Amino acid sequence: TAIHRQDYAPPAYWIDTVELTFDLDPAKTRVLNKMRLRRNPQVPAQALRLDGEELNLARVLVNGAGTSFKMDGGQLVLENLPEGDEPFELEIFTTCAPDKNTQLSGLYVSEGTFFTQCEAQGFRRITYFLDRPDVMATYSVLLRADKAAYPVLLSNGNLVESGELEDGRHFARWHDPHRKPSYLFALVAGKLVAREQKIKSRSGAEHLLQVWVRAGDLHKTEHAMNSLMASIAWDEARFGLPLDLERFMIVATSDFNMGAMENKGLNIFNTKYVLASPATATDTDFAHIESVVGHEYFHNWTGNRVTCRDWFQLSLKEGLTVFRDQEFSMDMAGSPSARAVKRIEDVRVLRTVQFPEDAGPQAHPVRPDSYVEINNFYTVTIYEKGAEVVRMQHNLVGREGFARGMKLYFERHDGQAVTCDDFAQAMADANPDSELARRLDQFKRWYSQAGTPRVRAEGSYDAQSQIYTLTLSQSCAPTPGQPDKQPFVIPVALGLLAPDGRALPLQLEGEPEAGATERTVVLAEARQSLRFVNVPEPPVPSLLRGFSAPVLLECDYSDEDLLLMLAHDGDAFNRWEAGQRLMLRAALRQLGADDSKPAGPLLPPALVEALRAVLNHPQLDPAFKDLVLTVPSETYIAEQLDEVDPQRIHALREAMRLELATALRGDWAAAWEAHRDTGAYRPDPLSAGRRALAGTALAMLCLAACQEGDPVWPGKAYQRFKDAGNMTDRFNALSALVVCGHELAQPALERFHALFRGDALVIDKWFALQASAPDRGGRALPAVRQLMQHPDFQLRNPNRARSVVFSYCNANPGGFHRADGAGYAFWAEQVLALDALNPQVAARLARSLDRWARLAEPYRAAARAAIERVAGHDGLSNDVREVVTRALGGQ
Ligand code: ARG
Ligand code: ZN
Repeated sequence: TAIHRQDYAPPAYWIDTVELTFDLDPAKTRVLNKMRLRRNPQVPAQALRLDGEELNLARVLVNGAGTSFKMDGGQLVLENLPEGDEPFELEIFTTCAPDKNTQLSGLYVSEGTFFTQCEAQGFRRITYFLDRPDVMATYSVLLRADKAAYPVLLSNGNLVESGELEDGRHFARWHDPHRKPSYLFALVAGKLVAREQKIKSRSGAEHLLQVWVRAGDLHKTEHAMNSLMASIAWDEARFGLPLDLERFMIVATSDFNMGAMENKGLNIFNTKYVLASPATATDTDFAHIESVVGHEYFHNWTGNRVTCRDWFQLSLKEGLTVFRDQEFSMDMAGSPSARAVKRIEDVRVLRTVQFPEDAGPQAHPVRPDSYVEINNFYTVTIYEKGAEVVRMQHNLVGREGFARGMKLYFERHDGQAVTCDDFAQAMADANPDSELARRLDQFKRWYSQAGTPRVRAEGSYDAQSQIYTLTLSQSCAPTPGQPDKQPFVIPVALGLLAPDGRALPLQLEGEPEAGATERTVVLAEARQSLRFVNVPEPPVPSLLRGFSAPVLLECDYSDEDLLLMLAHDGDAFNRWEAGQRLMLRAALRQLGADDSKPAGPLLPPALVEALRAVLNHPQLDPAFKDLVLTVPSETYIAEQLDEVDPQRIHALREAMRLELATALRGDWAAAWEAHRDTGAYRPDPLSAGRRALAGTALAMLCLAACQEGDPVWPGKAYQRFKDAGNMTDRFNALSALVVCGHELAQPALERFHALFRGDALVIDKWFALQASAPDRGGRALPAVRQLMQHPDFQLRNPNRARSVVFSYCNANPGGFHRADGAGYAFWAEQVLALDALNPQVAARLARSLDRWARLAEPYRAAARAAIERVAGHDGLSNDVREVVTRALGGQ
């Protein structure tokens, strides 16, 4: 039942207008859907096939009269429609049961309030429809419900009319002036309150902004509202894209499958990405809220005004919108150093989550060729790699050129449903002299070929001629269904460092004079050489600056080269990367050794000294220091290996952390003292960086102390936990105690729960911290089972399931990869339990064992058995079936 991109055909009918009338009732909601349709004259005459799922059909009328119809699969098929191209009316009356909807797709009830989620194919769970993004219609919506239970009635667009009805009921009529695909439809009905803000845009138009939440949460909406106002101002300033609605609403719900949804004028958000106060949310939460609010708002143009022709084009809107939200956060962060920190964080996600996806059984192109369940393709490849593909276009045409390309894209396609080709074409056409335009067809391989390219760099210096030759070559390993890969267009930003760390001006052979110290070269062949002239000394090449392309870069740097870059590279990303390479190298050296007990220290003394210098550096940003001093993650280390022993990697990384904690003890103490006070709480990147570094310092000090049975630092951490003026400091202190395993962790956890009981998002943190706590000889799994017995635990709430089950399976490698396979058996059990409630969320969890085939024994056999157990289960959803089938090597 796979769907193929090549099979795309335009719809046989268009839907011009839709009038929906809802009589909202949790047990039985009645939906009257009146549409005006017409045949698509470009397509041969054929029956109308409307999508539907879990609907009870009561009546179908064509132009007011009864008609014959049949059911085929889930589809409602109408064969006897009026002939000719004239519009006709179709009226469909159905009912559905929102309170039985645990999938959270379509119309559902969360804490007594109605919400919808229609992307990608949830609208068909509300009414029969051409539920595909290239069918765009004008919507009018009439909502009717009991007034006491559902005082607030919201839908897309403008409120036209509202009033009272009999029997304590009331109504609201909404009209959306913009045509839209069905996946952008939304309604909300329930007891909610709003923070409101009126703004004036540049053109002078007035807009009403609202953030709707439950009554007790209003004081936690200020940051979301500020983020929304900043997003509106940014899109207008950077891209000339204004808000096109009189009213823009955000509504928060605690039951949500994903992060948030960009429904036209009525964004629906997971509470996690709306609610924040200094006392309950961490700096990371504040930053995520800013970026998700931005992301959904930016979709209003990139996604809504111009949408996707079909779901294979998903990255058209998601890759572009992630790129935009990343740029927004960087522009908000301000300083070059804070921009670099954001870039490093984004690349870290890409490399620890997307690179493994691209190297595993679920690898797929940014524009996939086929899928079974579209919900499984909301992936880091579509989102994060897609954003990198947009970023490369940005880098190839420049900032101004990119703005020109966006302008042309909207001139050509506003109001249309288009493809990734259309976007790249607009970028190229707006920049005809660019490398992008010259190589557009080849560049687009980034959309069609899966897998992470590997770039090898080799340099040689000739002292006599003062020529430095840099040879770059590329290759890409096969991925499922794609045995051979053609060369990519890879922009490589680079500079050359002299042995004293100075940046050398760059002059390629044939150029009249030396230019800037950084430039971008384009690697488009399998192998290319660059000759730099007038190079006075053997240089160290600083390559792929700012991570200018999503590739794996191999270069035979010596330790000295890397230490030089760590101390001097003018590119902050590569400065950080040099430190990561050194730590990774130390880890791999030890993993390659036969003996699992190292003779000497794991981290070479020169590296420890270099890290000390970074930690004590008078100018560097605390946030940057914190990133440099973080050992590469276990997943990232594992990615470098052909055979993975997760326990060995875990033990090794812990040992490296302990070495860093002990060797830099005095420096950590100084860092703690210098950064512990950040004054009145503000979530800006600079003070957040100070808190992050103080938090890491405290954790390191506790780690070293617990190892030696020294009570002083754990005592200080407990004090900090009690006195902290904000959640970031409080949670960092709590987690320092939990991670080092001190006996004060237990009373601290109890106190934390007592303080925040009833605040679901904080209790999620409490669960997550415990579910990812160190294993200590097999204690993690029983602890997780215990947590699931807690009265606050609920598998059907996605945030809660993620905080316990996902945290254990995805964020606790030492506890999850048990030699007895019990972690994997637990995973199989939870995938099946979740699948019965919510296939989308279950399919996410099903991805935890993607990389099973590289595990060493006994893990490999146990993991395989667990996946087979899931695969062999009767009545599996399409979602989970597709994931486990691919994991086992099927297509
Ligand atoms: N378009 C949303 C966003 O990225 C994500 C919605 C995904 N929903 C789903 N059921 N797969 O902002
Ligand atoms: Zn999105």
